[in-house]
Amino acid sequence: MSQQESMRSPKGLPDWPRQLLRGHKLEGYRYTSRAFAEKEWAHVWTRVWLLLGREDEISRPGDWQQEEVGPESILMVRQSDAGIKAFYNVCQHRGQRLVVEKKGHAGRFVCPYHSWAWNTDGSLDFVQDPEDFPEGNPCGKLFLAEIPCDTFAGFIWVNMDPDCVSLRDFLGPVWDEWTAYGIEKWKRYVAKTTLAPVNWKIVMDNFNESYHVNTVHRPRGSDVEKLRIHSGVDTRYTTSRFDMANEGHGRMIMLGGYAGPAIGKTGVVGEPLATILREWDLDPDDFAGKGEATREALQRARRRLGPARGYDYFDQLCDSQLTDAYHYTLFPNFAVSLWVDGFHFLRARPHPTDPEQCLFDNWWYAPNPEGVAGPVRTTAGLVGRDEIVSHEIFKPGEQSMGLTIDQDMSIFPTQQMGVRSRGYRGSYLADQESRTARLHELVDDCIAGRPPWET
Ligand code: FES
Ligand SMILES: [Fe+2]
Repeated sequence: MSQQESMRSPKGLPDWPRQLLRGHKLEGYRYTSRAFAEKEWAHVWTRVWLLLGREDEISRPGDWQQEEVGPESILMVRQSDAGIKAFYNVCQHRGQRLVVEKKGHAGRFVCPYHSWAWNTDGSLDFVQDPEDFPEGNPCGKLFLAEIPCDTFAGFIWVNMDPDCVSLRDFLGPVWDEWTAYGIEKWKRYVAKTTLAPVNWKIVMDNFNESYHVNTVHRPRGSDVEKLRIHSGVDTRYTTSRFDMANEGHGRMIMLGGYAGPAIGKTGVVGEPLATILREWDLDPDDFAGKGEATREALQRARRRLGPARGYDYFDQLCDSQLTDAYHYTLFPNFAVSLWVDGFHFLRARPHPTDPEQCLFDNWWYAPNPEGVAGPVRTTAGLVGRDEIVSHEIFKPGEQSMGLTIDQDMSIFPTQQMGVRSRGYRGSYLADQESRTARLHELVDDCIAGRPPWET
């Protein structure tokens, strides 16, 4: 029996199918070659659904948001019928970008070059000297280039392929699993973007495995700190579950709400779990020597008290979802840790021209039920519940992305240097790194004209 087959199943959620991997060697050129990055652009980035915006950030007709993916800039615009359309951010006169800011509100998009004015539905409303065009007045004739756009979990997703599969088919089992939480109502508590000096797959490889956790995120400090289980999550691969969906997405489930064996030695439930237990009317001292019991106790407490505290969706979740860490990776570039009360996403977007750089985003959303007080726990520390968090964009190292993410990022640049070396012979992967291997297999499948959504 393989390590994956021996994993326990999260009671209440359907299993994902098994995948046979081909056994990929991840060679250095995949992270450095311009020719390979161009193939990825043509066969991956311009064919997949990409999460680019948040519905409630462009709520009124005329509100817009602009985001970059590689060399492209995509403009998402709220329509007068309450729908959202997405366009390439490019004027059809002579190619000027229409907006450079990230967000705004417009009655029309007036091009800064010759003042052509585009309606928010993409039609052309005004040009100077309309009688002077040998091909005829472009108004009524020309439109902004629109691309497929859909919404799910409160996010705006776009796809540069006009013949793409539906977002629902693309997401596969992720659709139903995320729907249960009502994430569309959750509020933003962290929004950070930086330029990372690495290929986008260096980032995503890392979030597709937990093999690095005991090294890169090793608890440091006092003896008690060193013994504590990281964030109350049991990160051992032997107790974790690893899944890969036919559609190309990954899921890794780790036991959470778990004080673990450490308190057998110290008699202390580590933070933040001790605080979480108290929040759910449990006394951490009752679990001295019984570290394995905290998870189930927390599940029972949340099941009993959650709905009355405003967490109405707890009824839709299975016991495992009430405590455990559900780490999803959506092909190709989106990693989510879904907690019972937190949606933490990390995203890597390709650089416009350089395969050895990428845009790296760190976001956190959480429910904010009426009557619940106290700060929200995020990767970037505690954030006030009613705080309005703006999007921070900064150069590498200028600001912290949050302790855990900073630890991941401290490894990335030197790995990028290593995979560029003539002496690197390609990867040698553990079974628990299968999702990393699969990311690369899927990239190759896309390049070969066999994307997962067509097989
Ligand atoms: S490029 Fe936009 S009006 Fe000329
Ligand atoms: Fe990590």
